[in-house]
Order: sequence, then structure tokens, then C-alpha cells
Amino acid sequence: MSLELNVATISLLLLLASTANAATGKAATPGKAAPTKTAAHVFDVKSYGAKPNRDITQAVTKAWNDACAYSGSSKVVVPAETYRVGTVNFLGPCKGPIEFNVLGSIHSPGDPKYFKGDSWISFVHIEHLTVSGNGDFDGQGGTAWGRSGCSKNSYCVHLPISLRFDYVINSIVRDITSTNSKQFHINVFGCQNLTFDHVTIKAPQNSPNTDGIHIGRSTNIKVINSKISTGDDCVSLGDGSRNILIEGVMCGPGHGISIGSLGKYHNEEPVIGIRVISCTLTNTQTGVRIKTWPDSYPGAASDMHFENIVMKNVDNPILIDQGYCPWHQCKSQLPSNVKISDVTFTNITGSSRTKAAVQIICSSTQPCQKVKLRDIDLKHKGIDGSTAISRCINVDPIISGFQNPPPCTHNTLEKKP
Ligand SMILES: *[C@@H]1O[C@H](CO)[C@@H](O)[C@H](O)[C@H]1NC(C)=O
Ligand SMILES: *[C@@H]1O[C@H](CO)[C@@H](O)[C@H](O)[C@H]1NC(C)=O
Repeated sequence: MSLELNVATISLLLLLASTANAATGKAATPGKAAPTKTAAHVFDVKSYGAKPNRDITQAVTKAWNDACAYSGSSKVVVPAETYRVGTVNFLGPCKGPIEFNVLGSIHSPGDPKYFKGDSWISFVHIEHLTVSGNGDFDGQGGTAWGRSGCSKNSYCVHLPISLRFDYVINSIVRDITSTNSKQFHINVFGCQNLTFDHVTIKAPQNSPNTDGIHIGRSTNIKVINSKISTGDDCVSLGDGSRNILIEGVMCGPGHGISIGSLGKYHNEEPVIGIRVISCTLTNTQTGVRIKTWPDSYPGAASDMHFENIVMKNVDNPILIDQGYCPWHQCKSQLPSNVKISDVTFTNITGSSRTKAAVQIICSSTQPCQKVKLRDIDLKHKGIDGSTAISRCINVDPIISGFQNPPPCTHNTLEKKP
């Protein structure tokens, strides 16, 4: 390269240097230390025989295996084409940091009978994984949801989850889209320090069991700046969720952002340290909720905080439900044994589609403790002129700031209608 650098060349160098995986060559800014990152070695699925509109399961698996065995930064690239992929497990541990860069659209087989196990694409035992690109993982769910009674029997429970992250550490998933998963879009299990940033999740409102991101038994997980429209919970947090941040998530349609359901299984781990901040829920079935099964195994959920949340036409904006029992599959008259404590709802505003904008229904044997409500403004306008109300059972909430609906009176004991 000539030493006479013109302005365009300098801008190009600056651009390259600012790109995470760009070759560094020389320091772009003289006098400052050169960036230490070197270019990732690219493993393009095309070099492994991938052809547009074809099944590339083998090509992508080989590309992954080679990338994972490469001792340095590696990058698997799926170009901007449509490809079909069957069940794949991207297994670690890998020798260096690895990126899975999807620019195109990856389609799953339509018929669930083509799946081995209950997942479509899994990332397992990987450290320093980046999943990136503006590409799409299309679960082709439409072919599976149609079965009658899907939400009530076990058929749908065994449908494949689109993307699984099992034991993934110090990693990031950004910019990708998950469309029409057959069951959950994304499942996180046994992970630590995993961030989902600018992720888009799309499925119709009536698609059964299509939770956006389900997190369980994982620590330091973030879901930020993401848009989730689906048929079930936008984000759901199962047992053993610890130190989770959900911030800047637009949810709707869907069932809202949920902790639980908890207490269904023996030996569940506690839920500790959840922050849901600056999220907007639009036309969802619930807003922010904590749900536990009645007649449950013992469990605990504490240190959970919901702050600066906007509700737009949400059915049940604020809900703690310790009698969660869909489809009457439990003895709902027996109390839940999950202990809920240290919960705050702060600056939660907007509109409630139903009258009961705030419902805090706790267990008779494990009353909720330290539930705080501060600056709540949830408007409801019934056709009969009714306004929003609060309902509380087995809880004595600590109230401060502005309150609409008016707070529950001390130790209200109501029956569910
Ligand atoms: C968490 O993971 C990110 C992404 O790999 C990494 O940059 C960061 O250093 C990790 N944090 C810790 C505390 O290890
Ligand atoms: C309340 O939440 C809204 C929505 O996130 C935010 O714009 C506003 O600044 C918050 N108010 C305070 C006092 O933090």
C-alpha cells in the first residue's frame, strides 16, 4: 500500500479497525495502542458444499466442527440465502472464541416427525460464543401448531424448541431473529454470563407454547433491547434463575414477562435477583407476573424488581398468582409452598384492559413478604364506567407514591371470583 494515504483510505482503515473481527494491520490512530483482536478465521458453509434452498445440515455441522477445532478466533458464516437445516447440535468446548454468523434464513423441517429429540438447533458447552447476523431461524411452526388440543395435551410439549443454549458461558447472541418456533423459541439452561441483545422473536398470538426466551438454572443472563411478539410468555424465568436483567424489551402480543411457573417439580432451585426494567408490554394477556402452582413442592423466589414498565391495553398488568393452574390439572384449593419475598413494582404506568389491574394473590401457608408498590398508574375504563381495582390475598403490601388503582386495604381476604 502507498504511504500517501488519501482520506478515503484512512476512513476505510478506521472502519475496518472499528469492526470487531477486522484485520488490524497497523494502528488506525497513531500514538494509541493497536487493537489486539485479529481477524477470525472464516468457515463459510458454501465452502462445505451448501447450496441455497437445500438441506445444509451436514455442511453446517462440518463447518462448525472445523471452526470449533481451530485454535484461534473462528467464524462460521451462513450467507444471505435461504437454507434448510435439520436437527443439529453445535458442540463445544471449542479451542478458541467462536462466532456463528447468520446472514440468511435457516428453515427447519416442517413436520415434527423429522426431529430427533426435542430441539432443532442446540449450542452446548461453549465458552466465548457469539451468535450474530441479521439472519433468521425459521422454525416452520405453522405445520405443527394446527393439531387440535395442542395447548392441553402433551403433544406440543414434545415439539422441538428452536434454539437451545445449554452450558454456554461468557457469550452473546445479537441481532438474530427467531420466527415461528414449533415450541419455545429460545431455551437457556445451565448458562452463565450470556446476553441476548437486539434479538427479534416473531410468532402469531395464537401459536401455542411459543415462549420467547425461557431461562432456567442460569446466572447472569441479560435480555436487552429486544422485540418479542409471540403466543406465550415473551420471557419466562424458571427455577434456578439468578441475577437476570431484562431491559428495554418490547413485548406483545404474548403473555407478558413471567417468573415461573414455580413449584411443580421436586428439588427446584430458588429464583433470586431478577430485574425487569424499562419494558413496554402491548396487548398482552399479563404484564409482569410471578406464578406458582398450588399444592406445590417447596420453593423460593426473592429479590425481584419491576421498574419503569409501560402497559398498553394489558389484560392483567401486575400479577402475583400463587394459584396458577391452567386447564385444571392440579388441586387448586391446596396452597402453594413457594415462598415469595422482596418484590418491588415501581413506576408502572399505562392501561389495563380488565378491571383488576393489580392482583397479588399469595399462598395461605407462605404469605408473600416485602411486596412493595410505588408509583403505580394503571388506568381502566370499563364500558360500565368502572375503574381499576387492586386485589390482594395473604399479603400486606408496602405502599408509597402515587397509586391508581387505590391500594388494597390492610390484609384483604377475598375469594377469587
Ligand atoms: C461476559 O461475557 C462477555 C462476552 O463474551 C465478555 O466480554 C465479558 O468479559 C464476560 N464477563 C465476565 C465477568 O466474564
Ligand atoms: C417511569 O417509567 C417511564 C417509562 O419507562 C420513564 O419514561 C420515566 O422516566 C420513569 N419515571 C421515573 C421517575 O423514573
